[in-house]
Amino acid sequence: MSEKTILRALKGERLPVPPVWMMRQAGRYLPEYRATRAQAGDFLSLCYTPDLAAEVTLQPIRRYGFDAAILFADILLLPQALGLDLWFVTGEGPRLSTVTTAAGVAALKPTGAIHDTLAPVYETVRILARELPRETTLIGFAGAPWTVATYMVAGRGTPDQAPAHAFKAEDRAAFTVLIDRITEATIDYLSAQIEAGAEVVKLFDSWAGSLKGRDFDDFAVEPARRIIAALKSRHPGIPVIAFPREAGPRYAGFARATGADCVALDNSVSADWAAAEVQKDGCVQGNLDPRLLVTGGDALVAETRRIVRAFSQGPHIFNLGHGITPEADPENVTRMLEAIRG
Ligand code: CP3
Repeated sequence: MSEKTILRALKGERLPVPPVWMMRQAGRYLPEYRATRAQAGDFLSLCYTPDLAAEVTLQPIRRYGFDAAILFADILLLPQALGLDLWFVTGEGPRLSTVTTAAGVAALKPTGAIHDTLAPVYETVRILARELPRETTLIGFAGAPWTVATYMVAGRGTPDQAPAHAFKAEDRAAFTVLIDRITEATIDYLSAQIEAGAEVVKLFDSWAGSLKGRDFDDFAVEPARRIIAALKSRHPGIPVIAFPREAGPRYAGFARATGADCVALDNSVSADWAAAEVQKDGCVQGNLDPRLLVTGGDALVAETRRIVRAFSQGPHIFNLGHGITPEADPENVTRMLEAIRG
């Protein structure tokens, strides 16, 4: 049996056809996802019901035959496991109780307590490890500490992450303790996913682009480096994908600085630039503008082929620059796959 294509690409192999999966591939653009979500009642119940979370993870694999499945969960389950209240407002997004002071950081639950809340996530991983087709790679994930902190400090998503930047400016020491606490918990959370059967893990730093200069080093690079080093020492050979979204020029060197095996690219950087400056250090994935899966047509096919060509000289996993949106047409995903696989 030859090794799974995603694992080969993550080891640095250049494949004639890039393996492919999509961020948010289990999601509201799929009617079968909407049906299972309705059965669960609400988004968090879906995340915490292993049979249903496994079912929605499998749906896009059955429909499209992607090369990887990503565990269905959310990056905000970890703050909930650390003791914050979490709920989702339909049509608006997540809400959390907030942490804005050193005392608030000190009141978080100890790292060892997270597994009480997160046990159903590990059960979802165990089900998937049994049920996925043998050629499909199972990806676990967590939010990167900075992105998770932005939600913990603001209590919601924000356009500019201003509350987290304010906490960092007012009390850098306490903010650093918060980042350290999330870093430790993330190591244990991802470790438990790997023990349950995740074959790759991904760190989502959706708001990395708002960190500049030394802040990028301290709060995007350093936590990722620590998490990756700890995971690779506990689970030798475990591949890690890092997604420092909107890092711009800081994508260059990110794999070397953190030890990541693959860097996920948003769609603001040019594929030709990334092929020269990022792919020289290892595997890359991403870059297709998710809006093209809404609009489709020749532009979708042309841009898909352009990305495949740009990254054809090195290790590449085809993916989007960000998650597929609820407005996307499922038929356009089929068109994208035809353009990749021919
Ligand atoms: O990619 C996948 O298919 C795996 C599952 C997954 C979800 N969220 C499911 C989800 C993953 C990997 C995430 C990551 C995540 N969650 C991130 C990082 C990636 C990114 O998108 O930048 C962030 C910032 C979150 C936090 C979050 N979760 C927000 C801001 C929202 C609301 C926005 C939205 O799209 O509704 C969510 C909800 C969420 N997470 C949904 C899904 C499928 C939609 C919820 C629903 O079904 O109503």
